[in-house]
This record gives sequence, C-alpha cells and structure tokens, in this order.
Amino acid sequence: MKRSYLVTGGTGFIGSYLVRRLVKDGHRVRVVDNDLRGRSSRLADISGRFEMFRCDIRDTNAMIEAAQGVDSILHLAALNGTENFYRRPDVVLDVGIRGLFAILDAARANGVEEFVLASSSEAYQSASIVPTPEEVSLSIPDPWNPRFSYGGSKLISEIIVANYLRDVFKQLIVFRPHNVYGADMGEEHVIPQLTARAAKQIARHPTGDVPFEIQGDGSQTRSFVYIDDFIDGLLLAASKGAHRETYHIGTEDEVSIAELVNTIFAQFGRKAALIPTDLPAGGTLRRCPDITKMRALGYAPKIPLEEGIRRTLNWYLKAA
Ligand SMILES: NC(=O)c1ccc[n+]([C@@H]2O[C@H](COP(=O)([O-])OP(=O)(O)OC[C@H]3O[C@@H](n4cnc5c(N)ncnc54)[C@H](O)[C@@H]3O)[C@@H](O)[C@H]2O)c1
Repeated sequence: MKRSYLVTGGTGFIGSYLVRRLVKDGHRVRVVDNDLRGRSSRLADISGRFEMFRCDIRDTNAMIEAAQGVDSILHLAALNGTENFYRRPDVVLDVGIRGLFAILDAARANGVEEFVLASSSEAYQSASIVPTPEEVSLSIPDPWNPRFSYGGSKLISEIIVANYLRDVFKQLIVFRPHNVYGADMGEEHVIPQLTARAAKQIARHPTGDVPFEIQGDGSQTRSFVYIDDFIDGLLLAASKGAHRETYHIGTEDEVSIAELVNTIFAQFGRKAALIPTDLPAGGTLRRCPDITKMRALGYAPKIPLEEGIRRTLNWYLKAA
C-alpha cells in the first residue's frame, strides 16, 4: 500500500537511506532536516522525488505544516556525535526534548496515527545483561556528566512518547539502533575513524605488521549492523511491530574492537600490531542487543561484517 511519510533527520546517515528506500518503494515522502549534521547532497540521486522542509525540528509551526496529510511520522532528528554531547549538551537536550514535543504537537494537530521514534542503545549506558533484551532498565549514571545529555534525552523521549498523546496514536513504535554502519555514515564513528587511521598508518609502514594504537586492550565489544539490514529492520518494526512496543535493531554478532581492527586491516591486505592504550573513563565494555523480538517479526540481517566493512571502506577510500 502506498503511504505518505514524514521523516525527520532525513538528510542524516540513517534518514537518507530510509528516505531513498521509501521513495523507491513508491511512497510519498517529506523530509525535515536543518542540515546541521545532515547533507541534502546525500539525496541528490532522488532529488525531485520527495518534498524537502529545510527547517528546525523545534519550530512547531513548521512541523505542523510538514505533517499535513501524512500517514506516518518517522522521527530520527537528533544532535548526535560524542563531541556534541560534551560541548553542546544544552542543544542536544533542546533538540531531543523541545523537538520531540514540537513534532508530537504537529502529529496531534494533523491527526497522524502512526509515530516511530528513534531511541538509542545509549539509553542503557552499561546494560546489566548482554546480549541485552529490550526490557533491561534504562539508566543515566550521572546527570552532571554532559556525556549523558544524549542518552538522557533518548530515555526521556521514550517516556514522553509513551505518555503524551496516549489516545492519538494507533501505531506507536520505539526502536533502538545498535551501531549502524555503512557508506557515508559521517566521520565521528568508530569504523570510519579506524579506517582513516589504518590507511594513514599503512602508508607510513609499507611493509610488515603495522603498529596501531587501540583504546584499552581491544577486548571491549560492540555489535554492528549494516545499513541495508538496518533499514529492513526499521521498516519491519514500523509496519509489523506491535503498538506501544520497543525493538532493538542490530545484530547479535558481538565482536571485539581488536577483531574489528583486524577485519579492517584484512581489507587492506595487511596485519596490525595492536598497541593497547588507556581506556577512557565511562566507556561501555560490552554492547550487544538481544534481537529475539525482531526475529519473531521475521527480521534476519544478511550482510556479514567482512562484506559490510568492504563496502564501507571502499566508499571512504574513494571519498578520501
Ligand atoms: N547511527 C547509529 O548507529 C545510531 C545508534 C543509535 C541511535 N541512533 C539514532 O538514530 C537517529 C539517526 O541517526 P544518524 O546516525 O542518522 O544521525 P545523523 O546525525 O546522521 O542524523 C540526524 C539528523 O538530524 C538532523 N538534525 C539535528 N538537529 C536538528 C534540528 N534541530 N532540526 C532538524 N534536523 C536536525 C541532522 O542534521 C541530521 O541530518 C538519531 O535519532 C540517532 O540518535 C543512531
């Protein structure tokens, strides 16, 4: 069935892939983004096939206009990026909370019945169970630490959508992405940063094992999901998920940072000699979602890490 979607944060990493998929599937799409971290050029290949609202998510009147006549709002806009959490925690919270109220008021003004919220695995910080099911308690270790402005804004956002407009939405879904990666994902993420540093080090060391510093001893873990698999999951959760439910979208393939570095170096046909350094305080040692709930909907991520890394790396090396 062809539908009409409003995607906030639509020129961002995940948003741009989502918009492209929806447009290609024949849906009507409106995009809201102020291009603070997004780029309209990400959607150049489908320009003219969606409506662009270049405005701030916190502008309620603009949101009311953008949400006119849409069937569904996919709310992805947020001020992401670890540096922003420390430097601009006030803006992280303002965009997260004031922006959410603005888009919710726009949903109410237009009688939009479907709302899908992007939360984050950061709403747990360090989860007590790994792999982590959706029911594990969300927590903020220290409200005075600006690092938690982002995780805190996601935690509060989940409470807001659960309680505000309770009677308006017929389909309300929260999804928590877990380390999504792929081409054009931005620079402030572990895979592009490791790739750029690996390329530099390899150029400096044309033969033999390549000395490469890593945070800690490299045993801390993450689980990565390739963007195409992620978008499949997001659309599945939005359409087949149960009203007022939360879904983890990711993979259960937990890899250590050392394994990730080795996978990246293997793509260059080289080997790294890992040099451990101090682990920054407050870092999460293990992160891996339990995706049983998504699997029950039919979710089955397909792209193995090596293949996803190969595609991502090729993009970054060409762009460099
Ligand atoms: N990428 C991941 O692995 C990951 C993990 C957990 C959660 N998430 C969540 O998923 C969503 C999308 O993430 P992403 O990786 O695409 O991030 P992104 O930074 O690439 O995209 C977010 C978009 O929101 C836009 N935006 C920020 N402030 C705005 C404002 N005031 N008004 C309008 N637009 C504004 C930015 O310009 C950007 O295009 C976010 O809510 C993020 O918190 C992502």
